[in-house]
Amino acid sequence: MTTQIPIPPVISDHPLLDRVSDRLKGQIIIILDFGSQYSELIARRIRETEVYSEVLSYRTTAAQLREIKPKGIILSGGPNSVYDQGAPECDPEIFQLGVPVLGVCYGMQLMVKQLGGRVERAKRGEYGKASLHIDDPTDLLTNVENGSTMWMSHGDSCVDLPLGFEVLAHTDNTPCAAIADHQRALFGVQFHPEVVHSVGGIALIRNFVYHICHCDPTWTTDAFIEESIREVRNQVGDRRVLLALSGGVDSSTLAFLLHRAIGDNLTCMFIDQGFMRKGEPERLVELFDHQFHIPVQYVNARDRFLKQLEGVTDPEEKRRLIGHEFIQVFEEESQRLGPFDYLAQGTLYPDVIESADSNVDPKTGERVAVKIKSHHNVGGLPKNLRFKLVEPLRKLFKDEVRKLGRSIGLPEEIVRRHPFPGPGLAIRIIGEVTSERLNILRDADFIVRDEISKRGIYHDYWQAFAVLLPIRSVGVMGDKRTYAHPVVLRFITSEDGMTADWARVPYDILEAISNRIVNEVKGVNRVVYDITSKPPGTIEWE
Ligand code: XMP
Repeated sequence: MTTQIPIPPVISDHPLLDRVSDRLKGQIIIILDFGSQYSELIARRIRETEVYSEVLSYRTTAAQLREIKPKGIILSGGPNSVYDQGAPECDPEIFQLGVPVLGVCYGMQLMVKQLGGRVERAKRGEYGKASLHIDDPTDLLTNVENGSTMWMSHGDSCVDLPLGFEVLAHTDNTPCAAIADHQRALFGVQFHPEVVHSVGGIALIRNFVYHICHCDPTWTTDAFIEESIREVRNQVGDRRVLLALSGGVDSSTLAFLLHRAIGDNLTCMFIDQGFMRKGEPERLVELFDHQFHIPVQYVNARDRFLKQLEGVTDPEEKRRLIGHEFIQVFEEESQRLGPFDYLAQGTLYPDVIESADSNVDPKTGERVAVKIKSHHNVGGLPKNLRFKLVEPLRKLFKDEVRKLGRSIGLPEEIVRRHPFPGPGLAIRIIGEVTSERLNILRDADFIVRDEISKRGIYHDYWQAFAVLLPIRSVGVMGDKRTYAHPVVLRFITSEDGMTADWARVPYDILEAISNRIVNEVKGVNRVVYDITSKPPGTIEWE
C-alpha cells in the first residue's frame, strides 16, 4: 500500500478469540490484518451493513478460524510487496475452509501468489482514483456501476491468475482489478472498496457480506444493548461498580448503559480538575443528576490540580502531573465512596486492537516508538488498581458508540460534542497554567463556541477552540496603550483527528469572534488565526 514500516500485530494467542460471543461466532466476518492503515475501516464498513466484524492478525491459523466459524474472511491490504523477504503470508489452509475469502490489494496479490498465480511489479503503479470497467457484473459487482471510480494504491499487479480464477473488472492500467474463483468463493479486488472515494465500494462490500457470505443483519444497536445489559448483569451480579465520568461521549454512554443494567449499584464520579470549559461541570451534573436521574458524585479538585501545575511549562510534564493527580484523587475518593468491586472503563475496540502488540517492527522485533504526545492515557487508570474491569464498549468503534449513545437516550449535545482533551484547557494555555489565565481562556473559548453555535455551524468543524499565549503584545484601546495576551483561534476539519486541515472560516465570523474577544475578555488585546494543517502541526498547541 504505502511505504511505511510493516506493522503486523502479533495476536495469535489473542484473547479476542474468547471474546467473540457465541451469538456472533457464526455471524462474523473476520479481517486478517497485513498492516494496512485501512484494516479497521473495512471492519467499520462491514459493521455499517449490520454484520459484525473483527480484525485479527494475519497469523491467525485456519484451525483458530474454524473455531470462530466466520461467515467470510477478508485479507487486508498491507505495505509490503508479496515478494519482499519476510512479507507476511496467511495460513494457506484458509483457502480450503470452504468460507468465502475476499482479498483487498495486498490481500488479493497474496491470494494469487499463494494459490499459484503470479504477481509482478507493474510497469505503471496506480495511485488515486481509477475508473472500473466491469467485465462480469454478477455476484461481487452486482449494483456497482460500470465506470465507477475506485481508489487504487498499488505498485504490484497480478499478471497470471491461479487456476479457476477469472477477471471480473479491469482499469486502464490494471488488467486484473477484480477477480473471482466462483467455484471456491474466492475473490480479490486491487482497489480499496472501503474508502470514501470508492464509489460503489459499499455496494461491493454488501454483495460480499450478504450475497456471497449469506450473513444476516444481526449487528444492530438494539441487539447490542440487550446483549451487553445481560452480560453486565451476569458479570457483576449485585455488586457495586464505579465509573469515572468525564462528560465525553464514551463515559457518558457507558453511564447510561450501566445505569440501565444495574441501576443504583452504579456510582458515577466526576472529578473536576478545573480545566473544563465554561459552565461544563455544572451542565454535566445538571444533565445527569437532575434530568436523567443518574446520580453523580461531584468532586471539586480544582485547587489541587492547579497547585500541581505551579511553575510547570513543559507540555508532557503537565500531562504527567495531571494524570498522576487524577489517580491520587480517584483512589482517595473511591475509598471514601466505596467499597467497589468493579471499575467501569470506556475502552473501545481501536484501543483493544492497538494494544495488541501493534507497534512491533517485524525486522528487528523491537517496539517502534510512535508516541508524539502521551495523549490518551490521561484520565486512564493504572491496571493495578484493586478493581475488576467492566468494559462493555470494547467491541465498538467510536461511531458505533455515538449511535449507541443516541439510541439509549444521550442528548445530542454530548453525542456530537467536539473532542476535548483529557487535560483540557491546561494544554491550551501555553506555558504555566494559572487561575487568571484559565479564566481568560474560558471566556475566550466560550465566545468561540457561542458564535458558531448560534450560527448553526458548530458541527461543520472537527474542533474549534481558542489557545492562550503567555506572551504579551501592544495594542490600543480607546486612547490607551494596552499590553496584553494574544488568543489563537484553531478551527479544524478532519475525519478522525489523525490528519487535519485548518478550516476556511468565513471572514465575517472570524471578525465577530475577534471583536467580541478583545472587547469582552479582559487581558486579551489580539486575536490570530492558525493556518497550519496536521501534519506538520498538531491539532492542540501542546
Ligand atoms: P493532536 O494535538 O495530537 O490531537 O493533533 C489529536 C486529537 O487528540 C486530542 N488530544 C488529546 N486527547 N488527551 C486526550 O484525551 C490528551 O492529552 C490529548 N492531546 C490531544 C486532540 O484534542 C485531538 O482531538
